Amino acid sequence: MGRKSCFVAVAVCVLSVALGSVLWWRNSSRVVKAGSSDTPSYAANGDMRPPADYREWVYLSTGIDMSYSPNAMQMDHSSFDNVFVNPAAYRSFLATGTWPDKTVMVLEVRGAKKKGSINQRGQFQDTAVNGIEVHVKDEGRFPGEWAFFEFDSMQKDGTLIPDKAPCYTCHQAHGAVDTTFVQFYPTLLPLAKEKKTLSASYLKDEESAAAK
Ligand code: HEC
Repeated sequence: MGRKSCFVAVAVCVLSVALGSVLWWRNSSRVVKAGSSDTPSYAANGDMRPPADYREWVYLSTGIDMSYSPNAMQMDHSSFDNVFVNPAAYRSFLATGTWPDKTVMVLEVRGAKKKGSINQRGQFQDTAVNGIEVHVKDEGRFPGEWAFFEFDSMQKDGTLIPDKAPCYTCHQAHGAVDTTFVQFYPTLLPLAKEKKTLSASYLKDEESAAAK
């Protein structure tokens, strides 16, 4: 190889490494963006942007016909509620036993079906979503640190539920960890016990239940 062609070969090599890094950087910044719905974001009017990919988050539990709201008691058919949390908050909970700032929890309500395919007994979840509620911890934004939002679908922003609503009272009075219902999330409750992060009000509930 002559001196000149050797120089060209080195130049081509350096250029392709540079181009490769630019492409890698662009790709990785895209990955970061795709995951950014992991943190809460809001519209100018205070509505919350839908956490559209919550189905790719960490699954906590499913309740069936849990009656903690008067509406649920009047229903003549069953419904499931599935709870999900953003992965970063889940990882933080595993380490600390409580929720970090920017935790987003999604409660998805689905009707129960009996008839379908080979099913003879028991019930399964319908494809239609009947409601989505979000519990979000954003310390700099909400005076009570946490807020609830109601969503019609993942195509529309969610509306803030005012802080006088019963949602806040019940979650504060009975939630096992930081106003959330960790007592019903089987992978988290043992951790909260171990790390001693259970709320005083929950421990009191348990005490009076045991005394009965
Ligand atoms: C009387 C008590 C009570 C009231 C009132 C209540 N909830 Fe809950 N909430 C619960 C329980 C119990 C769970 C656990 C559900 C499960 O295990 O599936 C829960 C779970 C949730 C979750 C999942 C995250 C978390 O905090 O654990 C969201 C979101 C939620 N509720 C939203 C709401 C909204 C919005 C309202 C008001 C419109 C509301 N809740 C009112 C008892 C209540």
